Amino acid sequence: MIKISHINKIYGAPQVYTRGSSSALRRSEFQPKPSTGRYLAKQNSSPSSPRLGSEFSAKADKNDSVETKAVDDVSFEIKDGEFVAIIGPSGSGKSTLMHILGALDTPTSGKYSLDGEAVEKMGEDELADIRNRKIGFVFQAYNLLPRTTALKNVALPMAYAGWQKEKREAKAKKLLEAVGLGDRMYHTSGQLSGGQMQRVAIARALAMDPSLILADEPTGNLASVQAEEIMNILTKLNKQGHTIIIVTHEPTIAARAKRTIGLKDGKIVEDRLNGHHH
Ligand SMILES: Nc1ncnc2c1ncn2[C@@H]1O[C@H](COP(=O)(O)OP(=O)(O)OP(=O)(O)O)[C@@H](O)[C@H]1O
Ligand SMILES: [Mg+2]
Repeated sequence: MIKISHINKIYGAPQVYTRGSSSALRRSEFQPKPSTGRYLAKQNSSPSSPRLGSEFSAKADKNDSVETKAVDDVSFEIKDGEFVAIIGPSGSGKSTLMHILGALDTPTSGKYSLDGEAVEKMGEDELADIRNRKIGFVFQAYNLLPRTTALKNVALPMAYAGWQKEKREAKAKKLLEAVGLGDRMYHTSGQLSGGQMQRVAIARALAMDPSLILADEPTGNLASVQAEEIMNILTKLNKQGHTIIIVTHEPTIAARAKRTIGLKDGKIVEDRLNGHHH
C-alpha cells in the first residue's frame, strides 16, 4: 500500500529531511559503467534515452540556486495489486515522482508511506534496504551491464544480497525462462535485441521478489510488437499479484493499465480508472 500525501520535490532547495538524501542514486544498484560496445553506441545514437548514471550525476551537478518545483503538492494512494500508468508531457514530473516512489530519492516535503514505513524520513542505507526488499525497477534504457550474460545480469541483485552462486543462478534461470528467454541465458547484453534486453531487465527486477514493480517508459525504445510483449509480461505479473506502476507517453500502453494518473507541471490533473477492465 502506497500513501503519498502532499509531496513536493523542489530541485535546488535544501531538503527538509536531513537524514534523507537525494544522492541515493549515485550508488544505485544498476548503473552501468561507461564502456565501449553496443550499449554505449545505442545510448549515443538515441538522445531520448539518457543513461541513468550520467543523467543523474549531471542533474546533481546543476546550479543549486535554480529552484525547480518538479512535483507540486501531489497526494494519492495505490493499493496492493493495482496497475497504474502515469502520463503527462515532458518535464511534468513523471520520472521525479517515480524516483520518489522507488525510494531512489526523497521528497523535499510531504509524506510517503510504503506498507506503513515512512520512506520520506529514510537515510541512504534504509532507502537501499527498502528498495532491495520491496521494489523492482525497469528503465527505458534497460540499464544492463554490457558484455555480461543475461544470466549474470539477472543474478546480480542476488549476488549483492549475498546469495550463493548456485542458488542465485538457479533463480535467475527460472526468471529468464518466465520471460521467454530460456534460450538466451548465455547471450551478453550486446547479443540481445531491445525487446530481449528489456525482458532481461524485467527478470532482474523480479530477482528479490518485489511486491512493487516500477517501470519508467519501459517500451520507449521498442517497436510496437516488442512493446506489446513487454506489456503482456507486466500484465501477467500484475495478475500474479504484483503492484505495477509505469510511466508512458503512449496512450495505447497507458490503456493496458487499470488506472491512469495524469501529471502536468508537477500536479495531478487526472486520476481515473481505465474503462475496459472489469
Ligand atoms: N536534478 C534536477 N535538478 C533540477 N531540475 C530537475 C532535476 N531533475 C528534473 N528536473 C526538472 O524537473 C522537472 C520534471 O522533470 P522529470 O524528469 O520528472 O520530468 P518527466 O515528466 O519525467 O519528463 P520526460 O517525459 O521528458 O521524461 C523538469 O522541469 C526538469 O527540468
Ligand atoms: Mg522522465
